[in-house]
Amino acid sequence: MTTPTEPDTLLAGTDTRMETLFRVTERLRGQLPDSVIIELGAEDAAGDLLPEELAATEGWAPHRRTQFAIGRMVARRALRRAGYGPVPVLFGPEGEPLWPSGLVGSISHKRQSCIVMVASSKKLRSVGVDLEHDRQDSAEADIVRRVCPNDREQDQATALAASTASPGTLFLAAKEAFYKFQFPLTRTRLDWDDVVVSFSPPDTFSALARNASGMTVAQGTYLVDEGWIVTVVMENQALSLR
Ligand SMILES: CC(C)(COP(=O)(O)OP(=O)(O)OC[C@H]1O[C@@H](n2cnc3c(N)ncnc32)[C@H](O)[C@@H]1OP(=O)(O)O)[C@@H](O)C(=O)NCCC(=O)NCCS
Repeated sequence: MTTPTEPDTLLAGTDTRMETLFRVTERLRGQLPDSVIIELGAEDAAGDLLPEELAATEGWAPHRRTQFAIGRMVARRALRRAGYGPVPVLFGPEGEPLWPSGLVGSISHKRQSCIVMVASSKKLRSVGVDLEHDRQDSAEADIVRRVCPNDREQDQATALAASTASPGTLFLAAKEAFYKFQFPLTRTRLDWDDVVVSFSPPDTFSALARNASGMTVAQGTYLVDEGWIVTVVMENQALSLR
């Protein structure tokens, strides 16, 4: 069983936004394997970066460095629950987080809210997560055009309007979670039209992309609730096809 996250860890300095995200994440937990550790945080989580992280982010804009610091502190909570000490979580040349050996993980920010997922690399080869606000966007038509280039995805976006205020953002979140999932495995940069997503409401989707070594196919889980969209893509259903 997943150890339930301590409420005081999640809700220190609580506000409505974090309370709703906490509830949504608790619902999402039921859709994920027990081996996945989920942690959340917001401004209150922004503690001190470790020296290696401070050096790596020197000169960054203050806003971005604060966001990064929130992510690292939330990541360290997740690492602690996975049995790891307070190690730096640096990043690779494309911005991908570098987890300690034996772990896979993913980070997403929405403004100053942050979600981190980690799991043992013995259980999962990769994981990708994305967090977005579920709210109507005056640019919805543009988002759908940009993120869902093919007719089938655009038709699905129309159908998904029954379950989200912004189907375009839901597609975006699915593709970004898939991107973060596949990047550590394939080192492939992808654009929106490289990834094809197909939703199976109420809570799953599949995603696939071609890359230099063939095709990556993965299953995703999504939840739209209380003004949030959370998407997760994991390796356990993934196939690599030539
Ligand atoms: C990686 C990316 C998708 C992040 O999405 P975002 O909505 O801007 O921001 P999020 O807060 O959700 O995610 C940011 C986190 O993603 C992680 N990340 C960044 N690059 C990554 C990569 N190549 N692989 C895996 N994870 C990555 C980092 O942990 C980062 O947070 P941090 O810098 O504080 O550690 C985006 O920055 C990017 O590189 N886009 C180019 C590719 C793309 O979007 N293609 C279209 C979708 S297929």
